Amino acid sequence: MMNQTFSIIKPDATKRNITGSINKVIEESGLRIIAQKRIKLSTKQAESFYSVHKERPFFRDLVQYMCSEPVVVQVLSGENCVEKYRSIMGATNPENADKGTIRKLFALNVQENSVHGSDSEKNAKIEISFFFQNEEIVG
Ligand code: RTP
Ligand code: MG
Repeated sequence: MMNQTFSIIKPDATKRNITGSINKVIEESGLRIIAQKRIKLSTKQAESFYSVHKERPFFRDLVQYMCSEPVVVQVLSGENCVEKYRSIMGATNPENADKGTIRKLFALNVQENSVHGSDSEKNAKIEISFFFQNEEIVG
């Protein structure tokens, strides 16, 4: 089924100037980047985006990290997009990520792990609408 997912290229990657290298992996997997913008998250936005993790010990660090440099927010489309993007991202901790995945190739550690991808179709819709107006998603 053709669907959409939401992606963030995180601060560790924008800082190292490797957004193009990450987009290359995304595009070579067959997924399409159908909307994209570079933004700087506010503390409020990062807290709200990651609010599911607000009770976790790493929450403060995560919010601070996500606001430390610009990020690139994206909408991806393709067959089974949510699942497919999770699989090309690789495990949260790059030490556990499979060979050839974005996190294996580029992530620095469990926090600075280069990309975010939605974990369900439902969250993909919520996350896309958090950052994009319908008219910004041009296909
Ligand atoms: P994401 O939501 O960013 O796509 O990552 P994920 O599903 O693979 O991992 P999740 O459990 O949702 O964690 C969200 C982000 O929090 C940071 N984290 N730090 N210090 C730590 O132990 C720790 N654990 C997670 C990472 O940036 C992770 O991607
Ligand atoms: Mg997650």
